[in-house]
Amino acid sequence: MKKGMMTLILLGVVLWVGSAQADMKEMNFYKEAFPDAKIKCGDCHVNAMPKKEGGKHELNAYGKALVEEAAKTDGKVTVDTIKKVGKVEDFKKK
Ligand code: HEC
Repeated sequence: MKKGMMTLILLGVVLWVGSAQADMKEMNFYKEAFPDAKIKCGDCHVNAMPKKEGGKHELNAYGKALVEEAAKTDGKVTVDTIKKVGKVEDFKKK
């Protein structure tokens, strides 16, 4: 692959990640709870690319389960909440 092409792709990724910095607490918590797990926005959200604007960040069943579990404590999703609910893969099996 040409170098220019690589740079373009890298730049794209950086921009994409940057624009996704809406509220990535949950994602970081997930990585902390399960360090070797892969996680995408779409694992907790209905939209693959949730946006803060326009309210397009609806949660899917797993995301809702996190919020429900959090509601039992202080209402905030934390690393512990995610550990209690378990991995996305295990959740889907239920
Ligand atoms: C581990 C699960 C998880 C992942 C992964 C995740 N989210 Fe979320 N996200 C949540 C939960 C849960 C909420 C609701 C938090 C609340 O209500 O306290 C939320 C809320 C949001 C909100 C609304 C925040 C606000 O301040 O209004 C946006 C926007 C969002 N997520 C975008 C994203 C994007 C973009 C990604 C991927 C880069 C992503 N999320 C990945 C669980 C997740």
